[in-house]
Amino acid sequence: MALRLKERLGKKFDEEIRFFKGMMQGPKTVGSIVPTSSITARKMASVINLHSGLPVLELGPGTGAITKAILGRGVKPENLVAVEYSTDFYEHLVRLYPGVNFINGDAFNLDKTLGDMKDQKFDSVVSAVPLLNFPMQARIALLESLLDRLPAGRPVVQISYGPVSPIIARPDRYHIQHYDFIVRNIPPAQLWIYRRG
Ligand SMILES: C[S@@+](CC[C@H](N)C(=O)[O-])C[C@H]1O[C@@H](n2cnc3c(N)ncnc32)[C@H](O)[C@@H]1O
Repeated sequence: MALRLKERLGKKFDEEIRFFKGMMQGPKTVGSIVPTSSITARKMASVINLHSGLPVLELGPGTGAITKAILGRGVKPENLVAVEYSTDFYEHLVRLYPGVNFINGDAFNLDKTLGDMKDQKFDSVVSAVPLLNFPMQARIALLESLLDRLPAGRPVVQISYGPVSPIIARPDRYHIQHYDFIVRNIPPAQLWIYRRG
C-alpha cells in the first residue's frame, strides 16, 4: 500500500517536473502552472459523443491529463488525434499513450499540422491551448477552423483561467456557453463551449 502511494507520488512529481521543463522551453505556450486536475479533465471529456463514429481532436495535451480522461471515457486510442506544440511533451505523450495519433505541431495552422487528415471531420474538440497568450484575431481564426471540422452543433470545449470567454462573442458565427467553473484545479478553471448551428 505504502509502496503504491510512493509510486503514485513519484509519478505525479515526474509530471510536474516535465511541466516545468515545458515552461522553461516556452512559458508563453504552456499557459498554466500545473497539469489539469482529473475532475476538470473528466468534465471536458464528457462532451464527447462515443457513438458518432468520428474521431476526437485534442489540442495542447501537455502532460496528458486530459488525454487520459478522453481515453478513460471510452475513446479508442486510434480515434484520438492530439496536437502538441512542445516536442518535449510530445515525446513523453507518445511513450505514455501508445496508439494515440499525436502530432508535434501548431494548432493555429491546422491544415498543415493535420496533413492527410486536414479534411477529416471530428466529433468534438477538447482544447487546453493557452488562448489568452495569443491575439484575439488568432483565437477567432482557430475557433472558426475548428468549427469547420465539426458537424453542426458539435462542441469545442476550451479550458481558460480568466473570468470571461477567451473568445469574443460573434452570435452570427458561433454560440458561446459557459460550461463550468472548477475550483478543484490549479488555478481554478473556467470551461467554455463553442458551437455552430
Ligand atoms: C495549459 S497547458 C495544458 C496542460 C495539460 N492539460 C496538462 O494537464 O498537462 C497548454 C498546452 O498547450 C500546448 N500548446 C501551446 N501552444 C500550442 C499550439 N500553438 N499548438 C499546440 N499546442 C500548443 C503547450 O505546449 C501545453 O502543453
